[in-house]
Amino acid sequence: MTLTNHVRVTARLALLGIIFFVPTTLLADSGPPAAGIASANKQATAVGFEILQQGGNAFDAAVAVSAALSVVEPESSGLGGGGFFLLHRANDGKSTFIDAREKAPLAATREMYLDASGNPQRGKSVNGALAAAIPGLPAGLVMVAERYGKLPLKQSLAPAIRLARNGYVWSAKNASMIGFRKDQLATSPAAAKLFLRDAQAPAVGQRMRNPDIARVLERMAKQGHRGYYEGATADALVNGVSAAGGLWTLEDFKQYQAVEREPLHFRYLDQDIYTAPPPSSGGIALVGLFNILGGFPLASFERVPRLHVEIEAMRRVYRDRSIYLGDPDFVTMPIDMLLSPYYAAGLRASIHTKMATPSDSLPGISATPEGNDTSHFSIIDTEGNVAAVTQSVNLPFGAAFVAPGTGFVINNEMDDFSLKPGVPNAYGLIGEDANAIAPGKRPLSSMTPTILLGKDRVAAIGGPGGSRIITMVFQGLSMLLDGKTALEAVSAPRIHHQYQPDNVSSEPGALSEAEIAALNARGYTMAPAERPWGNMQVVLWDKRKGTVEAASDPRWKAVGGGESRDKDMIFR
Ligand code: GLY
Repeated sequence: MTLTNHVRVTARLALLGIIFFVPTTLLADSGPPAAGIASANKQATAVGFEILQQGGNAFDAAVAVSAALSVVEPESSGLGGGGFFLLHRANDGKSTFIDAREKAPLAATREMYLDASGNPQRGKSVNGALAAAIPGLPAGLVMVAERYGKLPLKQSLAPAIRLARNGYVWSAKNASMIGFRKDQLATSPAAAKLFLRDAQAPAVGQRMRNPDIARVLERMAKQGHRGYYEGATADALVNGVSAAGGLWTLEDFKQYQAVEREPLHFRYLDQDIYTAPPPSSGGIALVGLFNILGGFPLASFERVPRLHVEIEAMRRVYRDRSIYLGDPDFVTMPIDMLLSPYYAAGLRASIHTKMATPSDSLPGISATPEGNDTSHFSIIDTEGNVAAVTQSVNLPFGAAFVAPGTGFVINNEMDDFSLKPGVPNAYGLIGEDANAIAPGKRPLSSMTPTILLGKDRVAAIGGPGGSRIITMVFQGLSMLLDGKTALEAVSAPRIHHQYQPDNVSSEPGALSEAEIAALNARGYTMAPAERPWGNMQVVLWDKRKGTVEAASDPRWKAVGGGESRDKDMIFR
């Protein structure tokens, strides 16, 4: 990465009234020679191409892929969860962000997961009906289709309905993720019926049918938003959750709306980058990382000093995440400060060039991951429309609870709230008042769908990984900015630091023995026994080469589907 101090934020949240920037260079472009789709499951990728072939645009394809993932990758995301849709429309240069994040039920309270001594009862925010926030993904699908699609919602949902009715192929990833949640899934009879066979994961390659989710999708196809948030689906969800001790009411469903927000936009040299605004913490942290690191002459740094400043920048942006960020509809956040290059300069000045800064020595809150799920997909169509979508049910199989008759797990995103200041959630993330539970509030997310609109390169990038999403997108995006291929960006081993716990995570192969020794000598502690993480999906249109590349993370190589198809192939 050849970062310089040319990083500057040129647009802010609409909330703050800052003017939105349209990259006019793109308006004159002719479209890409091919369409590219990268998703975490080949069956979902195929559905996206099917919709493009029927005349749909990238946004119709996004609706189709999202709904298909709800069926074929139930451990990661789905109709019981939420997501963020970051879209760029080629014909007028508009970029927008559909926030379909879940919301706390109206009956939620700040203390709902605390015991009599005021300590969080983690089991309750992670497992079962009480852990779930009101789903947002269905509202997002409808909003994307109605506002940005070319095809009727019914047409874009049809392939997912077909997969649910005729059956989809159970993958190695589906089976592997059951391992994390088997015991909990077994406690929900409807979940066990759907996802277990003799209390075990179904065999890989088996055809799985799900008529219940097909019926839910059919109601949405007929009635749009109301098809999920009112009537038979809402009734089944509220009854099932209430019977199992949850707080959902029909009023929660009546009130739920997805929100269209201004994406966060910043410029790096002559490249425009659009990313997720709050209630994601991802975009603000991403800008912070580029702002802090942009002041170092990184290109001239040896590997260890460079790792040093990258880790220190990560530590500082995650500290700010824990203190300041939450749902923009509920809390006032110092967004201007966090995006300011002057603020970044202060953070940069606080980095000792030779020694690690202990997290506890930074002003802020203190406290002491894995098993994360979520799904990202990236799409570019032959007109140059781009979609970067990250969707989630939080941990694998969400709350591991299925309301009878619905065919999908509900999320456990309530655990993304800060249950108590300074106490870590499932990802080890901590928070304060800004992310405390309140009725109708969206929990802070790390999902960071991001679109790069450069003069020569257009890309969409993102991935799952809980708290690690932000550093993963940062490292992948840095590689794309450096001219690397999409495959290189999704493949490279990653490192991560998130302020607390105060240690450096690294994937196998990310750091050599000598680099670890050098970091130890600078005062860094390595996280114990790391394994690979993430499932990044990238599409990249290289205008100079005239190519479109779609790359799926090789960590799940037998399951993911990154594919590009020439115009001729799509429309023949
Ligand atoms: N549930 C993961 C996230 O939104 O960050």
